[in-house]
Amino acid sequence: MTTRRQFLQSGQALALAGLPLSSKQFSDFRLSETYSATNQTASLKDQAKQLGKMFGSAADRNILSQDSNYRKLLIEECSMITPENSMKWERIRPDYDRFFFDDADWLVDLAASHQMLVHGHNFVWHKQLPAWFDDKVTTGNMEKILVEHIETVAGRYAGRMHSWDVVNEVIAVEHGRPDGLRLTPWLEHLGPDHIELAFRTAAAADPHARLVYNEIGLEFNDDLSASKRSYVLDLLSGLLAKGTPVQALGIQAHLAADLPLDFKSLDRFLSDVAKLGLDVMITELDVSDQALPKDVGVRDRMVAETYRAFLDVVAAHEHVISITVWGLSDRYSWLTEFAPRDDGTPNRPLLLDGDLNRKLAWHAASEALTSASQQ
Ligand code: G3I
Repeated sequence: MTTRRQFLQSGQALALAGLPLSSKQFSDFRLSETYSATNQTASLKDQAKQLGKMFGSAADRNILSQDSNYRKLLIEECSMITPENSMKWERIRPDYDRFFFDDADWLVDLAASHQMLVHGHNFVWHKQLPAWFDDKVTTGNMEKILVEHIETVAGRYAGRMHSWDVVNEVIAVEHGRPDGLRLTPWLEHLGPDHIELAFRTAAAADPHARLVYNEIGLEFNDDLSASKRSYVLDLLSGLLAKGTPVQALGIQAHLAADLPLDFKSLDRFLSDVAKLGLDVMITELDVSDQALPKDVGVRDRMVAETYRAFLDVVAAHEHVISITVWGLSDRYSWLTEFAPRDDGTPNRPLLLDGDLNRKLAWHAASEALTSASQQ
């Protein structure tokens, strides 16, 4: 399958506005604009609160229980937590007839004891399914297995969750279906109706949680993102027309500092989602520097600039109710493993560096929140 970067670097991309930056452009990139360490002492959660929004991070027990400095910072900065892995099928249901709740319980308890909300992740996804899944699931039993799973997990945490990513990443335009749906085991066995089924089951199991459709790759200035935005709007409109209980769109926002964003279209897209009556949650924000030059100063500035520009657009929308980063410190980012740099230096995609110090990105995020609250 062609990756977004391969696509952008291919001949097809020449017709698009969003060309990858040359190394000359890298070094010139907004260097005139300075992000200095501001004197801001308020936490990001307090700054977001001024805007009526929550500020969150992905987190899990394995890290929080072992790194007390990181845990302390996360509690200071965040009003919301998303379990990065512990509520996914492979973790919470290691065997067909055995659930494992210890890690998720630990996180939900931690959140409760620090007045943080929890955003659950997730019920329908094509990844991180347990090893038993393929052997056990058939067209005959899949509906039962899915319903039972959502009833068990959503039911266990009912009343304690702010929201749930009920369905995750089901649009894959490149798979070629007229409805844009990704080819997944869920689609293969249950057809497109599994999406509505998942939302209805989650609503019955936890009537108070906000139910979210969560999607990746909606932000870029290329044909893939444009087409994905359009399919997502169609999917959401179709669900709402059938009375499906979906209340928000999750925009993951796994950005990369070298891949141009389409701010105008993103802004319009946010308004289009609002017109459907849905809230928006920014669910997994980070900014990869995988393809940037080695100079850490340049990298950090471009990453900061990307945070600022993206947050300027989303923070201005009232119906964007939360901004969640996919980890707070470069010490713990999925991109270390999934997007390693060719030069062997670690990716620096988050707001705090590996020593837990605020980066330019933290100040850029802070400035975006402050400036939006002054509009
Ligand atoms: O815990 C096991 C460990 O026991 C084992 O030894 C090790 C061997 O590699 O793997 C460990 O599990 C890894 C897990 O992360 C915890 O670090 C999995 O292999 C690895 O696949 C898993 O990656 C997660 C990834 O989703 C899987 O697709 C990342 O942590 C997580 O950040 C990432 O999150 C996703 C969101 O859920 C959905 N949106 C995209 C986002 C980024 O891919």
